Amino acid sequence: MTDWDRNKRVLLDLARQGENSQCADCGAADPEWASYTLGVFICLNCSGIHRDLSGISRVKSIHLDFWDDTLVEEMRRKGNQVVKRCYEANVPPFYYKPRAADCKVLKEQWIRAKYDRKEFIAASRPQEIFTSGDRAGYLWKRGKDKGSFHQRSFHLLEKEGTLRYYSKEDGKEPRGVIQVSKMNATFQPEKIGNPNGLQITYLEDGHTRNIFVYHKSGKDIVDWFNAIRAARFRYLKMAFPTANESDLIPKCTWNYAKEGYMEKTGPTDAYTQGEVFIGNTEYGYIVTEGLPPGVKGNKWNFGLTIQTPGRRFLFTCETEQDRKEWINALKEVISKPMSCQDYTVEATLRRKQRR
Ligand SMILES: *[C@@H]1O[C@H](CO)[C@@H](O)[C@H](O)[C@H]1NC(C)=O
Ligand SMILES: *[C@@H]1O[C@H](CO)[C@@H](O)[C@H](O)[C@H]1NC(C)=O
Ligand SMILES: *[C@@H]1O[C@H](CO)[C@@H](O)[C@H](O)[C@H]1NC(C)=O
Ligand SMILES: [Zn+2]
Repeated sequence: MTDWDRNKRVLLDLARQGENSQCADCGAADPEWASYTLGVFICLNCSGIHRDLSGISRVKSIHLDFWDDTLVEEMRRKGNQVVKRCYEANVPPFYYKPRAADCKVLKEQWIRAKYDRKEFIAASRPQEIFTSGDRAGYLWKRGKDKGSFHQRSFHLLEKEGTLRYYSKEDGKEPRGVIQVSKMNATFQPEKIGNPNGLQITYLEDGHTRNIFVYHKSGKDIVDWFNAIRAARFRYLKMAFPTANESDLIPKCTWNYAKEGYMEKTGPTDAYTQGEVFIGNTEYGYIVTEGLPPGVKGNKWNFGLTIQTPGRRFLFTCETEQDRKEWINALKEVISKPMSCQDYTVEATLRRKQRR
């Protein structure tokens, strides 16, 4: 057997072991590339990002390239588990670690933060966004006409629990004030038409609103994203002092199971515009296909009924497929146990509805 064959066999065997079987940077299964300078197995996608960091990372295909004895030995000595323990020693709990399906800017900045800026090694001094809840800077915000972006000055204020934005740095009246408690950020490069496009979703007066922003620098926009998560994490810790941290992390993002439109039907009343809180079956929440006898949609024909402890909500969807998706999404939400935060949200919505 030649060195080539033997080394390849050893390497492929290593790549199947333990944490090596998932990309060190995004968790994708069965990585086919490796950085031989860092000693990690990574996926094709991430290897492209490593290529741009040639000062610290050199990559090879584990199938197609030649690996000499020293390099194979190096991969054995290091490997994903050992290297992650070093470069991810100090990742703050709220910091978002990208997954395989996430957009490029998130992965790129994660990889740069880890290996290039070494932000998370044990001896690192955390960036300000990790230690202070405040942050200020300019972002380009999409205007009402949708095509144009305007530079706005954004201020995240931990004590106040708000994100404010102003037309000018010295502006007195904010153009908008968003509550951290009702805010979510998600990267939407395609929707916004910019690789660094971030959508900030929030609730205001019972309505869901969005603003669309970007920053020219990938580092800046990802730092904003994590600063928002940090602010939400701090807010959640304050709101739920007895909850443990691992329970709060998923709530740093605030999720809809499905986004879209349904037509509300049935007797119109003032208080149902906006949102319907979806609880859990044990507490009297039920979703069923169809509308009660004698009720018809105005425009759309595919009805569904949400029974809540307080009252019944009737909706119609445009297509059968749409209805199926909504029912599945709603059922999934309902089958999950309610958490303490859900109860608070529910109570708030109830209050609003009673007004
Ligand atoms: C590769 O990366 C892109 C963007 O970062 C992502 O949308 C895609 O799902 C990734 N592909 C795989 C196979 O992980
Ligand atoms: C946090 O709570 C979850 C269940 O709610 C539990 O499984 C987990 O062990 C707890 N973690 C800590 C560190 O207490
Ligand atoms: C909240 O953000 C996460 C990612 O940060 C995203 O997956 C989710 O869809 C967002 N939810 C809303 C309601 O925007
Ligand atoms: Zn990867």
